[in-house]
Amino acid sequence: MRPIRIEGDSIAVLDQRLLPTREVWIKVRSVDDAFSAIRELKVRGAPLIGVVGAYGLAQNITGNSQDDRLTAEKLKGARPTAINLAWAIDRVLRASLDGSRGAALEEAKNIFDEELNNARLIGVNGEPLISEGDAVLTHCNAGALATVDYGTALAPLRIAKDKGKKFRVFATETRPVMQGSRLTAYELLKDGFDVTLIADTAVGYTMSRGMIKKVIVGADRVFNDGHTINKIGTFQVATLAKRFGIPFYVALPLSTLDLEGNEATTKIEERGSVELEYIRGKRVAPRGIKTFNPAFDITPPDLITAFITEKGVLKPPFKAINKIGTSS
Ligand code: MRU
Repeated sequence: MRPIRIEGDSIAVLDQRLLPTREVWIKVRSVDDAFSAIRELKVRGAPLIGVVGAYGLAQNITGNSQDDRLTAEKLKGARPTAINLAWAIDRVLRASLDGSRGAALEEAKNIFDEELNNARLIGVNGEPLISEGDAVLTHCNAGALATVDYGTALAPLRIAKDKGKKFRVFATETRPVMQGSRLTAYELLKDGFDVTLIADTAVGYTMSRGMIKKVIVGADRVFNDGHTINKIGTFQVATLAKRFGIPFYVALPLSTLDLEGNEATTKIEERGSVELEYIRGKRVAPRGIKTFNPAFDITPPDLITAFITEKGVLKPPFKAINKIGTSS
């Protein structure tokens, strides 16, 4: 299930706001198209917004370096937390330093191809962690819909299924945007997985009943020491997993590493109150209520068993690993 199509020099993306009820593809041609697709969550998931941001810039390279830099900054601002967006845009900008739109488009395609291959390798490297009869909980959507294909957290499950392993998947709803029920449940059910949807608030009970054997989640930004930024609620799931002695894995391509940054240098996106006050257009909280709606949280490395990457199953620190596309 691919959420993005390359159509010559431009792209079309699946509008994820409309899933699971409607599958509508939209063209992304202008900078504004790319900006609004990312900002409004038509596309989401760290690797996918990186690829869409890369194409958004590459398609619109003018050759005027000042204008191109401004476009890059604008696109980076669409969502601040997942490092893949800024990383991919910087790569395209560097590739187009001589003003070449062709070189920029080539770099955007390179990023697409690399993310596709990395996701498959994350699957191959993580597959041995999945046992026959397993019950794997995942939070948010780190599946094919969050990447170019396969997913990160869901990639090992896809390869394990292809190998004939039988196991169950538990997907949390992931309030407030419901990436778990709308997207993870949708893509796994469509692809024939044994998937069970639970409320976010049911994680502790489900674990306490021995129903979960391991957890795999994705990531939006992972620091050198292993602190992991991912969808809000991940920290709670990790804390509960530790309480019940359940292995907790983070799956990521190395494009999600932030080797220089830390919590202080990273903005945690806060989203509007509409997401808390309404569900599908229906008011579920009183008018005038104060809200706080962070989109991500930070899980410390002592709660994380290991990191599943395209380079293998790793433990921090990560500095020795060369992240493609950076000068370090
Ligand atoms: O707000 P979203 O839907 O973009 O958040 C996505 C996540 O938090 C994913 O877990 C993360 O990007 C990993 S995607 C492979």
